[in-house]
Amino acid sequence: MIYLDNAATSFPKPPEVLQAVKGVMEKIAGNPGRGGHPGALAGGRILERCREQAAMMLGAEGTENIIFTFNGTDAVNLALKGFLHQGDEVIVSHQEHNAVMRPLMGLQDGGQIRVRMAEPDAKGVLSPESITHQINSKTALVVINHASNVTGCIQPLQPLIAAAHKMGVPVLVDAAQTAGTERLDHLQADMIAMPGHKGLLGPMGTGILYVASHLDMHPVREGGTGSASESLRQPGMLPDLMESGTHNLPGIAGLCQGMKFVQCFREEIREYERALARRLEEKLRNMAHVQVMGAADVEKAAIVSFNLLGKDPSFVTDTLVKAGFALRGGLHCAPAIHAFHGTKGAVRVSPGLYNTEKEMDALADEVSKIQ
Ligand SMILES: Cc1ncc(COP(=O)(O)O)c(C=O)c1O
Repeated sequence: MIYLDNAATSFPKPPEVLQAVKGVMEKIAGNPGRGGHPGALAGGRILERCREQAAMMLGAEGTENIIFTFNGTDAVNLALKGFLHQGDEVIVSHQEHNAVMRPLMGLQDGGQIRVRMAEPDAKGVLSPESITHQINSKTALVVINHASNVTGCIQPLQPLIAAAHKMGVPVLVDAAQTAGTERLDHLQADMIAMPGHKGLLGPMGTGILYVASHLDMHPVREGGTGSASESLRQPGMLPDLMESGTHNLPGIAGLCQGMKFVQCFREEIREYERALARRLEEKLRNMAHVQVMGAADVEKAAIVSFNLLGKDPSFVTDTLVKAGFALRGGLHCAPAIHAFHGTKGAVRVSPGLYNTEKEMDALADEVSKIQ
């Protein structure tokens, strides 16, 4: 099996990640923040080291701005439900995943907020004006998907965030497809949500939400934090305000090693994965009857989605899976981007750092056989 579904979750993970998970399961006898015995303290140090690693990667003010979550969806939910108030309006991009759209639509259906969509250009790229045009006195937040999990199209975050800030509106970035390969520390984003199990190479069941110190958040999940235990109310300070209950300590230990790995090789990984995706995309674009989603000349993360004209994407996906390629067909939980491109589904290929040029060529050959 050739694994080409890294946009869903990365595989395999570096050996350091596996060792860290196993190390916690075998050696840490205690729950961080729940007791002063050696195991609980050792667990607390693992959490703190991971927060330090994430804070460095994201240019955070401090480790308290790093909230551990269970995945990317959980990070987005905490961000939206922990920040928005009754009557707020939210601006989103057309690239948003259901991790963003479903919580927002739930809030809108409950009469709490209103969602507006920014209008991209013909290639699917947002301009600062497309955001500012939608801002009014009720706008509380702009949400931007950094890279589409369908087309890979990367949005030019810096000018978009600067434009929203100029009008006093904070920005949440969904970095699910860019954390680990793109720089996120210089964006001045107010919140950044990401899974730990994709580009950060951590285990499933991990995620991170960065929350800037100046935001006024309310808790989404209340419970034990191991701090201020005399109070029946949730502590007011980050990260405890947003983190309740026992952490996924084995997962977080693995995530810390995954982040260390990608921070050492971020640019090399980015260039390598992008080169693999470009190689495949060029081969596919040269085939008659193959339609690659998205414009050829926009900046893209290492994701290539395509359709064979006249063939159902699920048939093409099933055929490729039977031929030994692990990849994903369908709508990829992002219906708006398919509506934008006029597609009802696609076959998605998302190479990772362990794939090779030979594997890209083998896939292209198989597509041409199906064709
Ligand atoms: C753009 C985007 N946002 C959010 C998510 C949700 O991440 P998770 O599966 O970790 O909840 C995904 C997952 O594929 C994604 O691609």
